[in-house]
Amino acid sequence: MHIYINQENQQFHLTNGQVSYIFHVMKNGQLGHLYYGKALRHRSDFSHLQVYDVPTGASCHVYADDPSFVLETLRQEYPAYGNSDFREPAISVRKENESHVPTFTYDSFSVLEGKPRLLGLPATYGNEASTLQILLKDEFLQAELTLNYTIFPDKPVITRSATLRNYGGENLVIERLMGAALDLPDKDFIFTHLAGAWARERHVKERVLETGIQSISSLRGASSHHHNPFLALRRPNATEHSGEVYGFNFVYSSNFIMQVEVDHYDMARLTVGIHPFGFQWGLAPKETFQTPEVVMVYSDQGLNGMSQALHQLYRENLIPERWKSEDRPILINNWEATYFDFDEDKLVNIAKSASELGIEMLVLDDGWFGKRNDDTSSLGDWHVDFNKLPNGLESLAKKINDAGMKFGLWFEPEMISPNSELFKNHPDWAVGMADQHRTLGRNQLVLDFSRPEIVDYLYEKMSGIIKQTNLSYIKWDMNRNITEPFSQKLASNQQGEFFHRYILGVYSLYERLTSEFPHVLFESCAGGGGRFDAGMLYYAPQTWTSDNTDAVERLKIQYGTSFAYPLYSMGSHVSAVPNHQTYRETPLSTRANTAYFGTFGYELDPLSLTEEEREEIKGQVAFYKEQRRLIREGHFYRLLSPFSGNETAWMVVSPDQSEALVGYYKVLATPNSRKQQTLPLSGLSADKAYEVNGRTYYGDELMQVGLQLPTEFNGVNMRSSKRRGDFQSNIFYLKSTDENLD
Ligand code: DGJ
Repeated sequence: MHIYINQENQQFHLTNGQVSYIFHVMKNGQLGHLYYGKALRHRSDFSHLQVYDVPTGASCHVYADDPSFVLETLRQEYPAYGNSDFREPAISVRKENESHVPTFTYDSFSVLEGKPRLLGLPATYGNEASTLQILLKDEFLQAELTLNYTIFPDKPVITRSATLRNYGGENLVIERLMGAALDLPDKDFIFTHLAGAWARERHVKERVLETGIQSISSLRGASSHHHNPFLALRRPNATEHSGEVYGFNFVYSSNFIMQVEVDHYDMARLTVGIHPFGFQWGLAPKETFQTPEVVMVYSDQGLNGMSQALHQLYRENLIPERWKSEDRPILINNWEATYFDFDEDKLVNIAKSASELGIEMLVLDDGWFGKRNDDTSSLGDWHVDFNKLPNGLESLAKKINDAGMKFGLWFEPEMISPNSELFKNHPDWAVGMADQHRTLGRNQLVLDFSRPEIVDYLYEKMSGIIKQTNLSYIKWDMNRNITEPFSQKLASNQQGEFFHRYILGVYSLYERLTSEFPHVLFESCAGGGGRFDAGMLYYAPQTWTSDNTDAVERLKIQYGTSFAYPLYSMGSHVSAVPNHQTYRETPLSTRANTAYFGTFGYELDPLSLTEEEREEIKGQVAFYKEQRRLIREGHFYRLLSPFSGNETAWMVVSPDQSEALVGYYKVLATPNSRKQQTLPLSGLSADKAYEVNGRTYYGDELMQVGLQLPTEFNGVNMRSSKRRGDFQSNIFYLKSTDENLD
């Protein structure tokens, strides 16, 4: 791994043998972008990669005597608007009462071992990384802009962020400060992203990049169910397994934009950052503002290569240290089993019954506090409801522990019900102006997390309960988006800071709780998957993927989520049938076969199961315990996409390629179809022999010819066929053997 600095040419080359990222100082002192992609051999001069050409027709040039220095035709590192570049910029900052085009010019650089933490923000970390910081200055604004670039050894990853410091004596106003900008030389890409809504999150969407602006974004105060802060630009010939793909992920959980502007010369400018709409940040003298981080991945091994790089980065350099190598408990959550209707006996019986099945933790979901018998009250009143749990939480926790189970608890810390003691005592704690209309979502308002005293209050409540109950796990929910986004504590000219201050408050509560209670496992949740982002994974290594637990729907949701996020970050549970979201009835085996590819659990009432179902579940739990290390550490390959047809397949291969788990799913039965269907696998060692279903094959055969799939209907005696009907699936476990097949 190396950061080459050519002081004479003022060029910078970050490379690690997998990727190269090259830029330089242009003649006006601004930074010009030269190259990002597959690693290039270093050379003393790369300046020829920037093409200066006199554009035809009307154009504006910076220097009277040099018509070729036109910023709208030059690739830049961190562009501004208004100085012969007419594209949307990375930065817009001004003095409070004066106009100026930001002109940040090169001052100096520094190289750091490791990676400095970002100010109050989640971010990747790694002592083994190297960081290049470029300092630029705008003398008029009296401001310093630092562009931070980190490169990791053995990973095709570069991370970026920007820091702005006011070293002058006047107030500055930031209107836009992107985490990163990237000018690509052409537009020959497919814009691939993850979009959806509640209960159908992160479906894969693709469109051809075209002239004009295309973007994904959120203005909801959460990264959202609707657009995920992830974007891939893949070459049109790139597939899951081969070809060039650039992946981008924003490590942030609030309003964001990821935008590509294709100009009249077919150059593509990517900008990723906090959404500038409604954003405005006052920077007083001596203050600093840092953007959240942008993760950039390059893959020449298709979309799977991009995803594996992101997964590896998040496993090794993002999630809390402790959870990198520790198994997560198989849990049972009472939500779909009881909703709000439970008491201590019911919960203890569920725990005992689940414990007999091998399940390791009971999570008590919504409804244990205040007077919460439905979703119309009590958010904010974080004390136990003695009507439901007369012996209190401590006693319940002890009984659950005595049943051999860990105890986990649901909170929705960021919310307040108008019908709550908290609201009676602190009506001004809710987001929005007291004398103006406030829109409800699920009957609730949002607590103003931009105010430190409110965050302190939640910290006291939550830490008290953690200690009192010997808690092992917290599900942190967030069930509505933010409307009327104003804080009663911020001055009117500061309201543009509200959304970012809010999420900094959320991060600070997570930071305090996770550092004081590192043994407590956090699962983030936002009405299912409304905040599934890398920012959350920094604190909570798993996320409730979706409120939709239907196995067929989950194929799409989990397939899409895996584009950016590791398997072991996806909460995936087996629930009852008919499914509560789709009313579909899928076999118990298919529900588990889908849920295995995530952090496994159950979302049903074990007391209502038949003996046969209980036996099957015992087998599932035992199987997952054997496989969870593979799910945590393995390399994930998507094989057949649920977005392209009736069949889905994926597999996970251990890092040493000695074992693999394959999932194959067929949504609708297709009678009398192919008799000799095979599924070509990926990621195995071509030379190793693998045993699967009592037979042995070399890896090359399994990857070239494929794994033989069972016949769906046996034709002769359809009724006795094991695989029949819709929603069928198979799991194959492959183990390498020493058998010689030569
Ligand atoms: C939404 C979550 O996604 C569900 O799992 C459940 O916790 C409910 N909220 C409880 O209100």
